[in-house]
Amino acid sequence: MSDSWQITSLRGGATAAIASPDLDRKTGLAQETATRWFERRLSLRSPLDPPLADRPGRPAKPELVPPKAVTKRSLHTAQGRIALLHSIAHIELNAVDLALDIVARFATEPVPLSFFDGWMTVAFEEAKHFRMIRARLREMGADYGDMPAHDGLWQAAHSTRNDLTARLAVVPLILEARGLDVTPSLQAKMRETGDLETAAILDVIYNDEKGHVAVGAKWFRFLCARERKDPAATFQQLVRANFRGALKAPFNDIARAEAGLTPSFYRSLTSTSSA
Ligand SMILES: [Fe+2]
Ligand SMILES: [Fe+2]
Repeated sequence: MSDSWQITSLRGGATAAIASPDLDRKTGLAQETATRWFERRLSLRSPLDPPLADRPGRPAKPELVPPKAVTKRSLHTAQGRIALLHSIAHIELNAVDLALDIVARFATEPVPLSFFDGWMTVAFEEAKHFRMIRARLREMGADYGDMPAHDGLWQAAHSTRNDLTARLAVVPLILEARGLDVTPSLQAKMRETGDLETAAILDVIYNDEKGHVAVGAKWFRFLCARERKDPAATFQQLVRANFRGALKAPFNDIARAEAGLTPSFYRSLTSTSSA
């Protein structure tokens, strides 16, 4: 691939992918960096790595608006399903940048190399998810960029840029775990409306996302154990300090527990029991 020269190391490849405003290039760089890392053809860091930007590269469209300005429509219309797919595409795109940001930003942390294997698997799969959803949007006569999107996900992660444990609490264990809660009912609605193609894509995403939460829970517990901290209490403290907004029930307790995120982590943070 013509961008290979940009991949100076794992951190360099992740940084170049984050910076790219061209989404084919961003997702391509993410996947090629992951593949080369898994083949052990890349060092973790290099003095040639470009500096990590504060914001990811993005195309001119979609326009980014406050979360409340994004309208919700019925899934019984094609327009409503397109709007939903557009919002999922935006989430997946943010997820690509967020997984790569964990790698690039925290490449100097004293953690085992398998930490980076986990996050590059996540980045690879998020790139795959974005491409699948975008292809489905195009089949439906639309494309990513056609409607406005919001910037909440990147903002949520930004406040944890100096603290890896806090980053893991907010990104995989709050934001990605939320995907496990909402995806099964979306799949059911897609089947109900006869959109089996979209339901099948959501199946792939759902199964991969369980793995992403598991990677998050594994390394969150690892960091807590190293500091001799209680993981559930640490999670609650970090979420209160770094995440605005309450956690919304109902939770998919079974899928969350399978991923290693047990109710003792999040129960006391729901909108009813914490203010
Ligand atoms: Fe995803
Ligand atoms: Fe994910």
